[in-house]
Amino acid sequence: MLANPKEILLDAEKNNYAIAGINATTLEAVIGMIEAAEELDAPLMISHAQSHEAYAPIDIFGPVFVDMAHKAKVPVIIHLDHGVDYNYVIKAVRNGFTSIMYDCAHLPYEENSRRIKAFTEIAHSLGIIVEAEVGLMPSNIVGQGGCTEYGVAIDNIREYYTKPDEASRFVDETGIDMLATSFGTVHGLFVEEPDLDIRLLKEINEVTACALVMHGGTGVHEEQLLEAVSGGIRKVNYYTGMGIAPAEAIGRKIAETKDPLYYHEIADIAKSIMKEKAKYMISLLQNNK
Ligand code: 13P
Repeated sequence: MLANPKEILLDAEKNNYAIAGINATTLEAVIGMIEAAEELDAPLMISHAQSHEAYAPIDIFGPVFVDMAHKAKVPVIIHLDHGVDYNYVIKAVRNGFTSIMYDCAHLPYEENSRRIKAFTEIAHSLGIIVEAEVGLMPSNIVGQGGCTEYGVAIDNIREYYTKPDEASRFVDETGIDMLATSFGTVHGLFVEEPDLDIRLLKEINEVTACALVMHGGTGVHEEQLLEAVSGGIRKVNYYTGMGIAPAEAIGRKIAETKDPLYYHEIADIAKSIMKEKAKYMISLLQNNK
């Protein structure tokens, strides 16, 4: 069923778990993640990132996601991940998304706050929940070194962490429902061992009256993920680990198959493997319940 996103956030807070927000770039991935959530009887957030527009155009995939959510046996939130252009954010509204990340974190604080406050008023009047970010999340592409998602080189990742006083002020000013929090994770594969600053996360949690979100779920050790959930994380964004998982098995299948191999057979391998990855993450995030 298409979830009431506010109810799901409240339920996660009450029962000390985190929702998995998993990026949806292909139909196989979405079918797999819904099956995984249904088998675990857990809520799910299907996340569509603006950066994946070329693979999954929002005007085509958005209505399909909403329809799939309606038909699912568990509550499903349809979420826009990292909507950086206002026009794109409005496209998500028009396509029935029930949760939207408007990402203005690269802008100066005042401008970030002003834009998010204005959008949150509109979104709330339509029953849509809003995620925004203060601090920056780096992206690490193995072999290319570390850089923030906006291409700024980083020497010290801590400089980009969310500051508790700023987070508190931002949440009060904007009225957002979810705050993306930078405390040690990166998008993509980790170049170095992740070491989350759980103490900072707890400080942020104490001074903010909204759900906290951890981006960059891939590569974080199980114990640290669970500590993050105990520290107040109510949604974990996850993609890379699932997105790269099918390649090896597909490569093997192609190499060992003598007869012509249909694409639907390859897609089915991808679905099964992504389903297992999604299932692992969803069940881990429910662990503290
Ligand atoms: P990973 O790809 O590192 O799992 O992170 C996904 C993410 O944070 C999307 O916003």
